[in-house]
Amino acid sequence: MRILSIDTSCDETAAAVTEDTKVLSNIVWSQASLHARWGGVFPSLAQREHKTRIDFVIKRALGSKFRNLKGIDAIAVTVGPGLAVALEVGIAKAKHLSKTYKKPLLCVNHIEGHILSVLAKPKNIKNKKSKSLDKPPAFPTLAFVASGGTTELIIVKEVGKYKVVAQTMDDALGEALDKAARMLGLGYPGGAVLEKIAKNGNPDSYLLPVPMSGQEDRLKFSYSGLKTALYRLIEKEKPLTREKIINLAASYQNAAFQHAERLIKRVLSDFQIKELWFSGGVSANTELRKRIRKICRENEILLRLPYSKKLCTDNAAMIGVAAFFKSLRGEFTKDLDTVERVPRLSVEEYP
Ligand code: KG4
Repeated sequence: MRILSIDTSCDETAAAVTEDTKVLSNIVWSQASLHARWGGVFPSLAQREHKTRIDFVIKRALGSKFRNLKGIDAIAVTVGPGLAVALEVGIAKAKHLSKTYKKPLLCVNHIEGHILSVLAKPKNIKNKKSKSLDKPPAFPTLAFVASGGTTELIIVKEVGKYKVVAQTMDDALGEALDKAARMLGLGYPGGAVLEKIAKNGNPDSYLLPVPMSGQEDRLKFSYSGLKTALYRLIEKEKPLTREKIINLAASYQNAAFQHAERLIKRVLSDFQIKELWFSGGVSANTELRKRIRKICRENEILLRLPYSKKLCTDNAAMIGVAAFFKSLRGEFTKDLDTVERVPRLSVEEYP
């Protein structure tokens, strides 16, 4: 099944062509630099940019091989969760293409896309050495999705059946990293820069509280207290030197990651989990990958990660993979006119 997929859920205009779980093309136009001066995504600007870029991105994804959607079997689009005004752009385009070229439409949940991004395969699979890519998934699996908008631990009973066991009460992990980077004057989005800086720092140089310490049984993520603690520490340490910034970054990252590690361990001790799937923008972080890999080794379970870092942050290839599994279940949209954006869609619900 060849699918043209579209994702405009936040500040990336993305289109991809997938064949079952194989990624044939994956084009992402990031608006991050445009939103940098606001320190976060500015909705009306995001919408305007999606409208300006979407045709170009789709054209690039299709290339000459699939011109006029020749050889494409279906269209997939993210309907939520995400920014309402941004989602609208992708949905309108997908409906238009579906009507014009008479292709069935599949509506996809963005979080399900992130979860299933670990099952995406590269075009030239022979060139990729990965044990997990050839292995069929074993269930139940624990998915850890950590991005700028989401921090969730989800039990995957099987593809398409999800139970959220832990989510954040306030900020998402990626958002917490972005805010820390901003406070330290490192720019936006800051997760990747913070990681780079933290590598040279000492994570024990400052004592920052690990969120929800001793309350792991509540199965809740919370990052706003840590953020406030960093703010106070920065005020105390001013003027900041390069050395102080590096050590603050390392100490903050350490506390933020320890919180995630503790909750993952808690869930693994409660459920008979066979695999751990780590995805979303923060899954590009090498330090957190290392820590999660260690947990998986200790629990003798397989760790699956997206095969490329381009599949960690927002992209449409993951939407194509999720749509492929939906097509196997016959979940095509029956009435195009009823398709609408669902900004607060949960992964337990179906679009
Ligand atoms: O999945 P994504 O592109 O967008 C959302 O749906 O939010 O994730 C973006 C988030 C940002 O918060 C960004 O700072 C974070 O992922 N991120 C990272 C890294 N690369 C991106 N966080 C930590 N380490 C990284 N290397």
